[in-house]
Amino acid sequence: MKILITGGAGFIGSHLVRLMVNKYPDYQIVNLDKLTYAGNLENLKDVENAPNYTFVKGDITDAELMQELFQDFQFDSVIHLAAESHVDRSIADPMSFITTNIVGTVNLLNAARNIWKESGYEGKRFYHVSTDEVYGTLGETGLFTEDTAYDPRSPYSASKASSDHLVRAYYHTYGMPIVISNCSNNYGPFQFPEKLIPLVINNIKHKKPLPIYGNGKYTRDWLWVGDHATAIDTVFHKGANGETYNIGGNNEWQNIDLVRILCDTVDGLLGRRVGEAQELITFVKDRPGHDKRYAIDATKIKDELGWEPAVQPAEGMKETAQWYLDNTEWMERVTSGAYQQYYEKQYS
Ligand code: NAD
Ligand code: TYD
Repeated sequence: MKILITGGAGFIGSHLVRLMVNKYPDYQIVNLDKLTYAGNLENLKDVENAPNYTFVKGDITDAELMQELFQDFQFDSVIHLAAESHVDRSIADPMSFITTNIVGTVNLLNAARNIWKESGYEGKRFYHVSTDEVYGTLGETGLFTEDTAYDPRSPYSASKASSDHLVRAYYHTYGMPIVISNCSNNYGPFQFPEKLIPLVINNIKHKKPLPIYGNGKYTRDWLWVGDHATAIDTVFHKGANGETYNIGGNNEWQNIDLVRILCDTVDGLLGRRVGEAQELITFVKDRPGHDKRYAIDATKIKDELGWEPAVQPAEGMKETAQWYLDNTEWMERVTSGAYQQYYEKQYS
């Protein structure tokens, strides 16, 4: 089986590529990534020479390139993760989210359809990896199910919602064998330190302010990234065509509580006085249109496909903090921009 994974140099993509390359030696895994600021091939050093792994640098907004790539490789399946993924950046610059997340997705759908309509859809699969943010925001109670109406509120979530609709449209209109999953917030190693958890850990280490938007009473349902990778593996192999599966950690935290726990954990790991890092907490201007609460009902994937998260939150958060503290070189190369030279060094 020849599988195209898009966005494999990013945070979640790199965990998925590693899992697929190691677990399925008979599959050919092609990782297509533009290497934006969020793409880092150093995340994949341990598998870059594996015989069943190929990296291709390319942009999903380039329709011609996508057609050529599908012609050359004749992929059986696509697992599509490439996206602009940071809400704050989408507020500052919506257009790159529209081109990558919407136009890029349609380019991939078209390229797959052009090849597959000749060979037939049997044994083919287009898997679109999406977010729970498409459902909008919850109040104090309730959970997102697969039947929750879409109500995206940021340019990021609106672009992901749009791509979800288009992927479903290709199922209904052209009979394309698709599957979609919508996942809650991920945490773990290799996340770009603009996102809350790696940002906070790194700032604690350097005794820099910890910015909390608004009053910090915003809730997210956090999932260990390795559990997301196993969920994707499960949905890819067992999910039914045309279906959507919600993926979540059943692990809700208010931002302020999460940051306090991280503070005490990192203080402990660094041998500092516990309580020192909490003094760095700084309440800052709120994010415009900040969604109050996300929380996933993951009953469907558990009952129908037998997937459940394996990593407990306390263990996962401690492991995450330890990883960012241990991997100083990774963090320094990411924050200095040095990681962006890795492609030239290894591949040209
Ligand atoms: P990320 O920002 O860490 O990685 C995105 C990757 O896509 C990068 O390697 C980047 O170089 C690549 N990319 C961006 N634009 C591209 C383009 N035009 N062509 C080719 N490659 C391009 O993102 P992530 O956190 O790993 O998220 C991966 C996917 O999972 C996204 O689709 C996101 O919407 C979804 N998701 C993320 C989370 C989360 O908590 N991070 C939760 C649910 C769903
Ligand atoms: P983030 O990691 O950006 O993920 P998302 O917005 O996709 O959920 O943010 C997680 C939560 O943390 C969100 O409620 C915004 C908040 N936040 C802060 O309070 N301060 C920060 O510096 C960042 C980056 C996020």
